[in-house]
Amino acid sequence: MRRSSRESWRSPLKFLPPVRWDQQEPTWRAARPAVIAAALKRASARPSGNWYVLAASREVRPGRPLGRTVAGREVVAWRDASGRLLAGPGSCPHLGAPLCDSPVVGGRIVCHWHGLALGEEGFPGWSPFPAHDDGVLAWIRLDAVGGEEPLPAPALPPRPAAAVDAVTTAVGTCEPEDVVANRLDPWHGAWFHPYSFTRLTVVEEPSTAEEAPDGDAGHDHFLVDVAYRVGRRAAVPVRACFTAPGPRTVVMRITDGEGASSVVETHATPLGTDRHGRPRTAVIEAVLAASERPGFALAHRAAPLLRPLMRTAAARLWRDDMAYAERRWLLRSTGRFPG
Ligand code: FES
Ligand SMILES: [Fe+2]
Repeated sequence: MRRSSRESWRSPLKFLPPVRWDQQEPTWRAARPAVIAAALKRASARPSGNWYVLAASREVRPGRPLGRTVAGREVVAWRDASGRLLAGPGSCPHLGAPLCDSPVVGGRIVCHWHGLALGEEGFPGWSPFPAHDDGVLAWIRLDAVGGEEPLPAPALPPRPAAAVDAVTTAVGTCEPEDVVANRLDPWHGAWFHPYSFTRLTVVEEPSTAEEAPDGDAGHDHFLVDVAYRVGRRAAVPVRACFTAPGPRTVVMRITDGEGASSVVETHATPLGTDRHGRPRTAVIEAVLAASERPGFALAHRAAPLLRPLMRTAAARLWRDDMAYAERRWLLRSTGRFPG
C-alpha cells in the first residue's frame, strides 16, 4: 500500500526525555566477556581471502597515486586510463623510490627518479597486487601477508542499493582484533557514547563457546534496540543487527526504524608497527545511509554536503572506540586483560 506523503514525512524523532547517565541500567552483567570472546573467535576464523581495505574508493584519484603501508608492506594504488584500480609494491624496483610520489602517465606510474614506467604487467622484482574497487572502498589482496586461500574478491554482505556513503579513517595502537572486539560489545553504546546513544537493549546475542561449541549457525549476530540521540530530548529509535562476516570486518545493518537497510561497515587494516614495535591499525568505516523516504533522493544531490557531517559523527564515536581498542591491546600485550 502506498503511504500518504503526510505519513511518509512523519518525523522519525521520538520525544525521549534524557535518562541521567548514572541512572541507566548497568549493562556489565549482560556483557559477558565469554560471549564477546566467542563471537570474536568465530569472526577470526572466517576467511578473508587475504583482502585488506586500503582506503575509500574516492581517495584513489585519477592521475595521482595513493601510498599506504599495510601489514608493514609499502603499497601504492592508482587508476589506469579507464579508471580501474591497480596496486603494487610502493617501492620502485630500480633503486627504491617512493612510487606514491611519482606521477601517473597514461595509466602507468612513471618513477620520478629515473623514469621506469610500471603497470599491471609488472617488472622483474615488482609484481602488482590484485585490487578491487567496490564503489565505496578500495581493497588490495596481499597473499604473502594473509596466508589464506586467496579469494577472487572480498566477501561482503549486501549493501543498500541507493545509499549516500561516507568513509572515515582512524588510526590507533592496537591490532585488528581489538577493533573487532569493540564492535562485538554492543553493550557499551549508551554508557560510553551517551552523546550518541540512549535506551540501548541487546535483544539477541550469540552464544558462548560453551553454549554452542560449533558456533551458532544462522544466529551469530547481535540484535540491538537503540535510539540515536538528536539533541537533548529527541532520538531516533532503530533496531540494528551486528555481524562479523570476516576476521577484520563488523557490519551493522539497521533492520527496523528510520533508515532501515542502512549499513555501517567497520574494517580494520593492520598497518605495521611503530618505532617502539607496537602495532598500528587503521579503522576504515563506511556508512551507507539509505532511506525509503521520498525526499531521500534529494540527499544524493546533497551528498557532498552530507558526507562531512556523516564523517564528523563517525569520527567522534571512533575517538572513543579507538581508546577502547587501544586499552584492550595494552592490557592483552601486558598480560593484564581480565579473565
Ligand atoms: S628508482 Fe625508480 S627508476 Fe630509478
Ligand atoms: Fe562504540
